[in-house]
Amino acid sequence: MRDFEGRTAVVTGAASGIGRALADGFADVGMNVVLADVEEEALAAAVAELEGRGHPVLGVGVDARSRESVGELARRATERFGHVHVLVNNAGVASMGEDRGVWEIADEDWDWVMGVNFYGVLYGLQAFVPGMLEHGEEGHIVNTASLAGLLPGGGPYSVSKHGVLALTEGLYRNLADRGAAIGASVLCPGFVNTRIFDAERNRPKELEAPEVQAPNELMRAVGEALIQGGIQPAEVAEIVLRAIQEGDLYILPHPAWDPIVRGRFEGILGRKKPVSVDIEDLMRRRAAGEKF
Ligand SMILES: NC(=O)c1ccc[n+]([C@@H]2O[C@H](COP(=O)([O-])OP(=O)(O)OC[C@H]3O[C@@H](n4cnc5c(N)ncnc54)[C@H](O)[C@@H]3O)[C@@H](O)[C@H]2O)c1
Repeated sequence: MRDFEGRTAVVTGAASGIGRALADGFADVGMNVVLADVEEEALAAAVAELEGRGHPVLGVGVDARSRESVGELARRATERFGHVHVLVNNAGVASMGEDRGVWEIADEDWDWVMGVNFYGVLYGLQAFVPGMLEHGEEGHIVNTASLAGLLPGGGPYSVSKHGVLALTEGLYRNLADRGAAIGASVLCPGFVNTRIFDAERNRPKELEAPEVQAPNELMRAVGEALIQGGIQPAEVAEIVLRAIQEGDLYILPHPAWDPIVRGRFEGILGRKKPVSVDIEDLMRRRAAGEKF
């Protein structure tokens, strides 16, 4: 998709972080932007700010875990701006304690994280793709996964992101097979300086874990430092807009991870043990200026 001006973009998880930066990016290139998020206050602030700069925007309170809610988002977006051209299924959460055994992780964690990160993306496709195919104009869909979707993992976050990667590869092939004018990309960032570590702020009451998950304090501190030292969301947005124009399927904004990703696939083909990420090495390389 080459031309953005006057077209319409819908972004989920648009009140914060990467989604927020994408909403800014789409508005700056002259698109109508629909910002969708479950965090109503932050959403209202984001919408007010964009409106204040004179951009045509609509904010819609959405719970990505609900098919009805995402369906309603599609209805409201179409009612306000007509055809939707760009869809970014970006809303996401992470739970603590993914270092526990996969059999020990509470069902509530699985339900919440898979609900937002995987089913939220699937519901987005179910709600929007039929209309995008029907109007037939150029379009593009971006699903936010993570580098976690390319590396060995185990917990809900990693499983959800592996799922989003597979879903998007399928989507890309389905659209191409039908000769649709719609491209598809999967966004796999490393660390980005956002509020993802504070994702619990959006956990619904009914999915609170039965026992308080005492986070491993050292892991938490290291994780937070890695996120805070990550690249800025605006850098990611710039890369995504370029990838949409180029029609790239895989968007990997952090090339410093390439050797680790390569190691994983070589390990699989070599029938070896899974690679593990050496956090100390990562920190050292980051201190030397590499962007993880
Ligand atoms: N920050 C990183 O380092 C990083 C790395 C790789 C991938 N990602 C992915 O990027 C995406 C955006 O996250 P971020 O880092 O900007 O974090 P963020 O917390 O700043 O933004 C996430 C947004 O999603 C919204 N959200 C949460 N639950 C929702 C729900 N049920 N329905 C609708 N919206 C909901 C939040 O309110 C928030 O506005 C996520 O999918 C995340 O997994 C982030």
